[in-house]
Amino acid sequence: MSKVTVVGAGNVGATCANVLVTNQVADEVVLLDIKEGVAEGKAMDIMQTANILNLNTRLTGVTNDYSKTDGSDVVVITSGIPRKPGMTREELIGVNAGIVKSVVESVLAHSPNAIIVCVSNPMDTMTYLIHKHTNLPKNRIIGMGGALDSARFKYFLSQALGANATEVEGIVIGGHGDTTMIPLKRFAAYRGLPVSTLLSAECLDKVAADTMVGGATLTKLLGTSAWYAPGAAAAQVVASVLHDQKRLISCSALLDGEYGEKDLCIGVPCILGKNGIEKIVEFDLNAEEKELFAKSAAAVHKTNSALPC
Ligand code: LAC
Repeated sequence: MSKVTVVGAGNVGATCANVLVTNQVADEVVLLDIKEGVAEGKAMDIMQTANILNLNTRLTGVTNDYSKTDGSDVVVITSGIPRKPGMTREELIGVNAGIVKSVVESVLAHSPNAIIVCVSNPMDTMTYLIHKHTNLPKNRIIGMGGALDSARFKYFLSQALGANATEVEGIVIGGHGDTTMIPLKRFAAYRGLPVSTLLSAECLDKVAADTMVGGATLTKLLGTSAWYAPGAAAAQVVASVLHDQKRLISCSALLDGEYGEKDLCIGVPCILGKNGIEKIVEFDLNAEEKELFAKSAAAVHKTNSALPC
């Protein structure tokens, strides 16, 4: 029996639960929220698709009852407030830090062996906060930002190429922030062909720039933070862990010397399997990419320094 809990039944959490159910990623999914009735309602709505879509995953919604999350294999934390148009993810730190701390305590009280997937923003800093607050082995805490940013990069690449998004490869490393993420243009490919041979440098620069503000663009259009791709990206991380898929996914991981950095969580290519982050893969970055990574790490350190004690 595999069991996943999603904490926070807002747009991102509910979408994540919906993807977990629709793709039958786990036997059992629990969706939990502090607002009375919201998780129950969304879970019931999703479960009413089960007959239509022929689904076997069981989803339960609960109001703040962590006993129902007992023994989860993976727990996704989406709790906190989302950003509004014009806000940076970093501005959410004060409110979300308190929420994430108390959520992770409740989660671990009921699922002491769970792998934690952090979605709450500012995502790299909240992932770091979970490490500091719990002292869990570093493989067990995964920040999902890079999975989302990489999906957006592949979307913009596919649009520029006029290609099917599933045939495009691309990865984004660095912080999950409008100015800190690093779409690795040099490693992007269409069916193995470097995209630099298919798109002009200007076009590729625009793809990278659109990727970096991908979340902000949607926040402006929607009036709140995006949810379909963030929810699906979190579910992709869960699937790789739960099914020991060993996928290479960019995730926020605690670094201890990798990429020349330590004592922060930041997006790097990770192999995700049943033990969580099983390996951090070190790409052979060139001087320019290394410099961007160092700058991104400095910005993430700065945000971390604003964490309340
Ligand atoms: C985004 C939020 C979830 O990038 O960080 O859409």
